[in-house]
Amino acid sequence: MAIDTLISEAQIQERIDDLAKQIEQDYQGKDLVVICVLNGAFIFCADLIRRVKNPIYVDFMKASSYGDSTVSSGNLKVDLDLKVDIENKHILLVEDIVDTGLTLTNILERLGKRKPASIKLASLLYKEARNIHPVNIDYLGFAIDDLFVIGYGLDYAGKYRELPYIGVYREDS
Ligand code: PRP
Repeated sequence: MAIDTLISEAQIQERIDDLAKQIEQDYQGKDLVVICVLNGAFIFCADLIRRVKNPIYVDFMKASSYGDSTVSSGNLKVDLDLKVDIENKHILLVEDIVDTGLTLTNILERLGKRKPASIKLASLLYKEARNIHPVNIDYLGFAIDDLFVIGYGLDYAGKYRELPYIGVYREDS
């Protein structure tokens, strides 16, 4: 196997600087609740929030999909729910990747029912070609082609999350 670099560590960090500045401006004077969607987003979220100077409350959520994601957007199991009450709070969901959009569509729908003041989404990556359930990404790192990507939080069978860059996993060679 081989790993080809798709987005370098420097490119990621530079982009996160931009996103953090934008978030800082957009939430000026507001208390912000950041929800890190586990597992994949933990590294992106940690880097992002350390650059945003506004007061932030951080919580975590974990969900897994089951069944046929091409048919319905209802097949999502919440494995870890929030501890914080989000009613009237400004929420920023942080994801590593929006692929089919199933996970985020479901999470947004569920959290919307808890009456937050606002919900926005930050995702490091977006695979447009795979998108089935459209979601609006307010703060996007990079749009990528339909490639099997690993690193910077993204895994292959639980491995490679620790890589500081985004790579493309290749079985051959
Ligand atoms: C990945 C990623 C998103 C989801 C995106 O999670 O972190 O949550 O897939 O895919 P979707 O847009 O098709 O729903 P994964 O289930 O691989 O779990 P992990 O974050 O623990 O790696």
